[in-house]
Amino acid sequence: MVEEIYDDVVSFELNINVKAEKDSLTQTVISLRANFTAEAETFLSPIRNLIEERDQLRDHTSTVTDINVKAEKDSLTETLLSHIRNLTEERDQLRNQTPTGTVTWLTHGSSFYYRLERTKNWNESRQECQKKGGDLLIINSKEEQEFINNQSINAWIGLTDKEKEGEWKWVDGSALTTGYWRSGEPNNANGVEHCAVFLVFPPALNSWNDINCMQPSDCICESTKPPS
Ligand code: BGC
Ligand code: CA
Repeated sequence: MVEEIYDDVVSFELNINVKAEKDSLTQTVISLRANFTAEAETFLSPIRNLIEERDQLRDHTSTVTDINVKAEKDSLTETLLSHIRNLTEERDQLRNQTPTGTVTWLTHGSSFYYRLERTKNWNESRQECQKKGGDLLIINSKEEQEFINNQSINAWIGLTDKEKEGEWKWVDGSALTTGYWRSGEPNNANGVEHCAVFLVFPPALNSWNDINCMQPSDCICESTKPPS
């Protein structure tokens, strides 16, 4: 009996000790865990800051790069456009220069013929011819048509129906009698074609077309004396 009580007491004490030890261990684990988390935070926090800073720098860098690329592109575009503008101006000036000698002229019958590479509309072309002492070409015969056709020139001639649709007149005021129109021409396409151009298709004799008088083109002039 005494032994049994003794055993109980021993076992009771053992249990108390085990529990106390377990509680103490649990406390230790909890405290270690807390310490670890706090310590880990002291490491992680600067890393987080660095990552954030890196991302901000990345964003900033790409914005700066974008801005630089765009500025460079704009500047290059402006340079190119300015080159193009200068070249266009130079080309137009060269085109408008009419030094004697750059005009090639031909004689045929009693006329002098010359082509002006001016890419002007019909009215302006006519003025250019007049400045040189002539006028836009008038074709009075099949033979003259053949002669011009053989020169391979695409250019304005002195024929228009702008006063009255369908009434074609030469620049000297005479009415057109025989026309050398291409097949289907004149067709007054879109109702805006009132001036005639020579299109070269030798050996086809019929080579005229009516086009919009405002279209730029070379012109063929004719005069009774050499161009001035
Ligand atoms: C037509 C011509 C017209 C020209 C206008 C051609 O397709 O055949 O009649 O004058 O276009 O550019
Ligand atoms: Ca036409």
